[in-house]
Amino acid sequence: MAGFIPETILEDILSRIDIVDVISEYMPLKQAGRNFRALCPFHHEKSPSFMVSSDRQIYHCFGCGAGGNAFNFLMQYQRLEFPEAVEILARKAGISLPHATGNNGLAGIITQIYKINELTADFFAQNLLTTAGSRAKAYLAKRGITEETIRSFKLGYSLDRWDGLLTYLRTKNITLSQLEKAGLVLPKEGGGYYDRFRNRLMIPIYDAKSNIVGFGARVLPDSIRPGEDKHIAKYVNSPETPAYTKRSHLYGLNFAKDSVRETDFLIIVEGYLDFLIPYQAGIYNIVASLGTAFTGEQARLIKRHTHNVVMVYDGDAAGEMAAVRSLDIFVEEGMDVKVAVLPQGFDPDTFVREKGAERFKEIIKNALSLFDYKMKVLKSKYGIATIEAKAKVSGEMLSTIHKFNNAIIKTEYIKKLAHELSISDDSLVQELKKLKPEKLSPAEQSQSRKKTVIHPTEKLLLKLMLEESRLINTVREKIEPSDFQDERTSRIVSLMFNLAEEGKQVEPRYLISQTGDEEACRLICESTFLPELSENEKESIVDDCIKRLKINRLHLQKQLIHEQIKSAQNRGDEATVQRLMREFHTLIKKE
Ligand code: CTP
Ligand code: MN
Repeated sequence: MAGFIPETILEDILSRIDIVDVISEYMPLKQAGRNFRALCPFHHEKSPSFMVSSDRQIYHCFGCGAGGNAFNFLMQYQRLEFPEAVEILARKAGISLPHATGNNGLAGIITQIYKINELTADFFAQNLLTTAGSRAKAYLAKRGITEETIRSFKLGYSLDRWDGLLTYLRTKNITLSQLEKAGLVLPKEGGGYYDRFRNRLMIPIYDAKSNIVGFGARVLPDSIRPGEDKHIAKYVNSPETPAYTKRSHLYGLNFAKDSVRETDFLIIVEGYLDFLIPYQAGIYNIVASLGTAFTGEQARLIKRHTHNVVMVYDGDAAGEMAAVRSLDIFVEEGMDVKVAVLPQGFDPDTFVREKGAERFKEIIKNALSLFDYKMKVLKSKYGIATIEAKAKVSGEMLSTIHKFNNAIIKTEYIKKLAHELSISDDSLVQELKKLKPEKLSPAEQSQSRKKTVIHPTEKLLLKLMLEESRLINTVREKIEPSDFQDERTSRIVSLMFNLAEEGKQVEPRYLISQTGDEEACRLICESTFLPELSENEKESIVDDCIKRLKINRLHLQKQLIHEQIKSAQNRGDEATVQRLMREFHTLIKKE
């Protein structure tokens, strides 16, 4: 969506606000020379290495490498999407955003659904206070839900009628088509519509920004007639709508966010009640998966808040291989996942009510690592006495080990597994090699690229061009972006050349929004914050850097030809050898 907001507007916003003001709203900044300094909000540290430049209008942390302009700060600090950060700063700058943002139609529907859901939740909440809702109210009380929880989560009751909500919302000028899109009504066979949710306890489902995206509805036990219980679903939920995508959602994340930031881990349970009761008992860093298998979207959603999750299983559900396997998704995302198992017969709801929050916390604290947990489950399932059992267990364990992106962790787990099964490391390594290489996630890709250090010459040249836009032209006349060996610097330089050619702003703060890529953004900030160079040496440094880059490139080309000559010689391809020798010679003459 970023691409839909015109570049000129982004520049306008950035030029009218002061990043020092923006950041100061969230944390104290201390002046240090021309810059401002603070403890970095993005990693733990004792002495401040987070710097904000008021000249440059960007920030950079020397400790963790975080960096960017005012948009990036809001996105990172408030965990916002780019358009949301733009919206906030546009308001601050007094600039109105154009509404032609491309997918306005969809955004329109989504906002409408939020509004309809809000009205609906209010209606359901009201019902709970009437005589019609007294059975639902009694049921909530029986399940130990307090008045305060009912209010905070806007719990409610849907009337025992086919048109309770329909009639109410029609008085609010909501159309049937809107209601259908919101998933609140269903079409009747002979025409017309009826309420999806009837005579149930209603639980609004919020997204991470506290919009109501849908509803969960639990049947009231006293409305089930004998013999009927097999046909009635315990829960009915909203369908997928433009506002509600189940695979990328977690119930309660909006309520858990702050606590997750403090505790740096998230407890995941399955059901609505398994969330509500612990939350009410003061365990705030909790969400519910609503009984579905985990998706990569959910893992990445969590990853924006913490890398550590503890999965809580009911005593009886524990050990189901399909559930355990679905936890690999967290390993693939580079997150740490632990498993806590409740005693037989308990779920988080009943456990907290009977044993209390402290005992629950104890269970969470004693959670096993995914490796240990999976090992335990497999051992009790297959044993490790026979050769077949060992093969079975090692196969399952290797598929998890395989997903770790860290070679050291992999090796350590291999050792541990070999030890547990009393077999050799080598045979496990052999088996591991047979598994297909995993596709790297974007996060891992950038992680692995980060490991290669950028040549100081490239960084220095980048810094000079960022500091002094007139130098961009000097550099552009002498070398090509491809003369930069590092793919990252090369990309940024190419963008700078293009912008300079079009006579556009190349200042770091504007450039950052143009790259739209976190890694490039960090690199731009890091280079900008390198110590400043004195005015009179800049030109000569540029010349030296360019020479150096050319030499490096020549060197690389020579190496390449050398390799080709060797292989042509091995093939006995004399003609190619001759041609390559001549090329090699031309290169040497250039030195
Ligand atoms: N679920 C559902 N539809 C069902 C059954 C379950 O959507 N027919 C989802 C609900 O989100 C539910 C979760 O799966 O909260 C866990 O299911 P279950 O353990 O059966 O229910 P509980 O949460 O224990 O519900 P309760 O305590 O109210 O019986
Ligand atoms: Mn339950």
